[in-house]
Amino acid sequence: MSDPVRIGLLGRGTVGDAFHELLGQRADAVAAAAGRRPEIAGVLRRSEGDFDAILEASEVVVELIGGTDPARDYVLRALRAGRHVVTANKQLIAQFGDELFDAAREAGVQLRFEAAVAGVVPVIRVIQESLAATEITKVFGIVNGTTNFILSEMASTGASYADALGRAQELGYAEADPSDDVGGADAAAKMAILARLAFGAPVALGDVSYEGITEIQPDDIAYAKELGLSLKLLGVAERRGGGISVRVFPCFLYPRHPLAPVEGPFNAVMVEAPTITEITMSGPGAGGVETASAVLGDLVSILSGQAPVHAARQSLEIVRDISSSFYLHLEVADRPGVLARIADVLGRNEVSVRSVVQRGLGDDARLVMVMHECPESWFFKALDELATLEFIRAQPRAIRVIEEEFV
Ligand SMILES: NC(=O)c1ccc[n+]([C@@H]2O[C@H](COP(=O)([O-])OP(=O)(O)OC[C@H]3O[C@@H](n4cnc5c(N)ncnc54)[C@H](OP(=O)(O)O)[C@@H]3O)[C@@H](O)[C@H]2O)c1
Repeated sequence: MSDPVRIGLLGRGTVGDAFHELLGQRADAVAAAAGRRPEIAGVLRRSEGDFDAILEASEVVVELIGGTDPARDYVLRALRAGRHVVTANKQLIAQFGDELFDAAREAGVQLRFEAAVAGVVPVIRVIQESLAATEITKVFGIVNGTTNFILSEMASTGASYADALGRAQELGYAEADPSDDVGGADAAAKMAILARLAFGAPVALGDVSYEGITEIQPDDIAYAKELGLSLKLLGVAERRGGGISVRVFPCFLYPRHPLAPVEGPFNAVMVEAPTITEITMSGPGAGGVETASAVLGDLVSILSGQAPVHAARQSLEIVRDISSSFYLHLEVADRPGVLARIADVLGRNEVSVRSVVQRGLGDDARLVMVMHECPESWFFKALDELATLEFIRAQPRAIRVIEEEFV
């Protein structure tokens, strides 16, 4: 057998430690698959190791520090020094992808990052390898396990957002500061990466419009359940006209949608293209050992000489006003003429109603409507007008609905 391949490990926290252990356990399997046995050349932590010495001793660098400083500097230096790099760092790829891909190309080495999006779900491999010559039209899914756990908990127990978040923190699914997850920024970074890979466009974080789940109320979920809908935080990257749209938003799904049954901390990603119809992949979105196993998969690909295919780079316009269908929750005074006034506002803005449920609330009433698809700017204009009507008792609440039916 050839010489061992020496791995420089940057970071030995949750994922780094799991990777270190997994590499020891699976070294024979890696050697059998790739022809060379892996060995750790050195470990860098805040309290241990020296980057230059580790770089000098390594053939492949595995970055599991997280964040962008000092990870960006280390990864750039490793690539420029001719080392292949594997990382699980979504922020690094989403913010500095162009610079890092250029450095890898110029040095003739690989930069792999399967674990940066959807944990162990092999979506990057599928886009860059299986579908390398396919014209992908849409990539979308549940790419944040923390929010999917919180929404599943709210739906199954009727818990408030705050209680469901507390439970997620108790179980280790949410960090002490969960703002990036619950505010949608984590999913936005992952969608920027997926859009870049699927469409070859240099999608920056600022190109992704995102919303989180912090404003979701348990009764929105309960009413939607009556309409057969389930709530997910979705990331969607799609071709629209001559451009692309990349967004993250909470969204109701009809029951036969392939993403509707994805519960708890799981992730699931769908890819659509005319020639493949659609592919759905799901699995754990995080966790030390799960993420480490995706990192190990990247390492084996590098050692086996498999190279990812990069879509030809092109500039695509970011389209922001796209058409969507909405769920609308209104609390109104229960008196004659209210429904007609609401219908008038919607009608003047060319927003048409697909279904409506009305409930009494003492002197007030609650109207839950689902609209047909229309340009979002029309819907939001109608929403602004509705909010000013004197019989509206609380701020109207709107959540997108995916109307597409799957068979
Ligand atoms: N955790 C997950 O489930 C998961 C899932 C998918 C992707 N990821 C990604 O995987 C990466 C690692 O996450 P993690 O959860 O393993 O993080 P973590 O537990 O916080 O571990 C970070 C490691 O990096 C080291 N480190 C931090 N700053 C450093 C510095 N300035 N110089 C040298 N070493 C430094 C830490 O050193 P000390 O040990 O000395 O503190 C620690 O060993 C991140 O990019 C994350 O987004 C994680």
